[in-house]
Amino acid sequence: MKALQIASFGKPSEVVELVELSDPTPAEGELLVALEAAPINPSDLLLVRGTYGLRPALPARLGNEGVGRVVEVGGGVDPARVGERVLLLPGQEQNTWAERAVVPERDAVTVDGSADPLQLAMIGVNPMTARLVLSDYAELKADAWVVQNSANSAVGRYLVDLARLAGLRTINIVRREEAAEQLRADGVPNVLVSGPDLVDQVGALLGGEQLDLVVDALGGEQAGQLAALLRPGGKVIAYSALTGQPHILPISALIFRDISLHGFWLHTWLESAPRTEIENGYRELAGLVGDGTLSAPVEASYPIDQFREAISRSDRFRRAGKILFSF
Ligand SMILES: NC(=O)c1ccc[n+]([C@@H]2O[C@H](COP(=O)([O-])OP(=O)(O)OC[C@H]3O[C@@H](n4cnc5c(N)ncnc54)[C@H](OP(=O)(O)O)[C@@H]3O)[C@@H](O)[C@H]2O)c1
Repeated sequence: MKALQIASFGKPSEVVELVELSDPTPAEGELLVALEAAPINPSDLLLVRGTYGLRPALPARLGNEGVGRVVEVGGGVDPARVGERVLLLPGQEQNTWAERAVVPERDAVTVDGSADPLQLAMIGVNPMTARLVLSDYAELKADAWVVQNSANSAVGRYLVDLARLAGLRTINIVRREEAAEQLRADGVPNVLVSGPDLVDQVGALLGGEQLDLVVDALGGEQAGQLAALLRPGGKVIAYSALTGQPHILPISALIFRDISLHGFWLHTWLESAPRTEIENGYRELAGLVGDGTLSAPVEASYPIDQFREAISRSDRFRRAGKILFSF
C-alpha cells in the first residue's frame, strides 16, 4: 500500500515522502480500514515542521483523521463489520495518509454509508473543536452572543452551524472581503472584515447588548480588544495563534471585569474525556454531517500520488476550503 511519512522535520512540501509498505494485518480487537478520504489540517503541517504540541519519533507516518471501509477484522471483532463505513477517531497513531490503516475497534465509529466521504472525513478534528469551544467554558443561554475570528476556517464554519443549532447568535470576523462574500453567500450571519474600526462594528451589531464568548484563532491583540464588549466574567477561548503572536488581554479586563483567557486543545480532551462521552459526541456529529446539517467547504481533493501538490496547496492560506486526500 502507499503511505506518506517523514524522516525529518521541515518544510512539508519537501520532507513528506511517499513509501510503499506491505498491507498491515489487524490483530485481536483491530480493524483493517481501506481509507476513502483524509484531510490535510494546519496541525498536520505544524507536526511535519516539528513545531506542534506533539513531536513524533522519526520516521513518522502521517494523518490523524479520516473515513474508510472496513475490509478485514482481527480476532474478537464481529466479521459483520466488514464493509461498514467508519470514521477513524483522531489520533496521531491513526496514520490516515495511507491507502490502509489498522485501528482499534473502539476508534472506528460507524457512519452513514451514503454520505459524502470528504465531509465525513473531516468530522474528527474541527467540528468537535467548534462544539467543545461552545459548550465547555460558559453556560450559553439561547440568544447569547458569540464572536469569532477566522470565521471562514473549517472550525469557524462548523461553529456557525453548531451555534445556530443551539440558538446562539454569532458575529463572524474574517480578514479579507473575498472570504466575507463567500460566507454571506452561504448564509452566515453578521460577517465583518477586520480593520481599525472592528470593535465599533461589533458594538453596532450588539446594539447595546454584551458578548458572552470571544473565540480566538489569531493571537495578538484582537481578542483583547473584543473583550471590551464581553459581559463581566466573560471568557476568551484561544484555540490557535495563526498570527504567531501571543494572546494579549488588557489588565483592566483581567482585573476589573473578571475576564479570563482559556486555551483549548482537542488532544487534551481526547486524552481525558470519558470514552462514552467521546464516542457519543462523534456519533452525534456524524449524524449532523451525514444529514447535511454540518459541512465545511472543500477546495480540492487529490490522490495520494499527487501529495506534493496537495500539501503545497494546503500550506497556502486564502483558500476557498479544505484540501483532502481521496483514495
Ligand atoms: N486547539 C485545537 O485543538 C485545534 C483544533 C482544530 C484546529 N485548530 C487550529 O485552528 C486553526 C483553524 O483550523 P482549520 O482547519 O479550521 O483551518 P482552515 O480551514 O485550514 O483555514 C485556515 C484559516 O486560517 C486563517 N489564517 C491563516 N493565517 C492567518 C493570519 N496570519 N491571520 C489571520 N487569519 C489567518 C485563514 O484565513 P484566510 O482564508 O484569509 O487565509 C483561514 O480562515 C488552525 O490554526 C488549526 O491548527 C486548533
